[in-house]
Amino acid sequence: MTFNAASAVAHPNIALAKYWGKRDGAGNYPAVPSLSVTLDGMATRTTLRFDERLSEDRFILGNELLIGRPLERLSRLVDEVRLAAGLTTRVSVVSANDFPTASGLASSASGFAALALAAVTAADLAWTPEQVSNLARRASASAARSVFGGFARLAAGPIGSDGSVALAAEPVAGPDAMPMKVVVCVTHEGSKSVASTDGMLRTMASSPYYERWLSYAVENEAALHKALLSGNFQEVGELAEASALAMHATALACGVSYFNGATLEALKQLRLLRDAGLAVYGTIDAGPHVKVLVRPDQEPIVTPKLRAIAGVVRTIVTTPGGAPSVERLKKPS
Ligand code: DP6
Repeated sequence: MTFNAASAVAHPNIALAKYWGKRDGAGNYPAVPSLSVTLDGMATRTTLRFDERLSEDRFILGNELLIGRPLERLSRLVDEVRLAAGLTTRVSVVSANDFPTASGLASSASGFAALALAAVTAADLAWTPEQVSNLARRASASAARSVFGGFARLAAGPIGSDGSVALAAEPVAGPDAMPMKVVVCVTHEGSKSVASTDGMLRTMASSPYYERWLSYAVENEAALHKALLSGNFQEVGELAEASALAMHATALACGVSYFNGATLEALKQLRLLRDAGLAVYGTIDAGPHVKVLVRPDQEPIVTPKLRAIAGVVRTIVTTPGGAPSVERLKKPS
């Protein structure tokens, strides 16, 4: 057979307007629209090779050989590519993040985006970014947005679909549309306690505030989208922080909690910095880290203050980033 291999690099994205909750039924459709910024300076690199010698898919993430549920989730994505390409060949995949994995730093977003792109390219499918995004979404909805650089939106899924309707993220604006720095305050180096899929399923099943979240998230995303297009950084920041707090309040109401002490300290510090006249806003995903949105000129003042917070292990300063890249690999001679 021909040597079918490809290597893709994708960046994580941070939702400014959060996705939390799924439509009922198959297909992994979000229940609410979300809007994100893709980050430069952090990346997942994934190399995938179709290998006729293998009887099973083989995935190495970091230094770990995956087994069980994580392996099945990755294989399911590759199965869709195999089906489309008429292949049955198993794959060998090596993937590495240059930031903590599965800790609420959006590693599944960059991971599934890189895997989708590498698999489609290695299988020689001439798919559009929309098709790649739809494939990535089915594995992890936030990954659909990492197929695009800059600011990207993922609409809510259709109600009552049997899973066959395509739903891709869409680019909203390029990385330079709104000058900002994103300072990631890492508050813990290990894995998160509740995976985002599980946290969201529990929230859907038992949060008393879930219905209200569904309507709030729609209004919040629409307002944030408008504020982004009109270049209003302060409004984008306020709406992003509000989205994160509403999502976490909804989850916390049924015992799904991602914060640690440093998360709360960082939120308090942001309020103090705002009182002192700085435009700084926080957002938090399914983990304890706080990602701070700040104007580029104020970042040198803000980052040392964030680093000084008890429990902040380190900070990563990033900017809005570009789309993923992919290259076909040549057969080794
Ligand atoms: C809090 O995309 O990881 O980061 O579709 O079940 O894989 P699945 O969930 P996932 O959830 C991300 C949740 C979030 C908010 C966001 O990125 O929009």
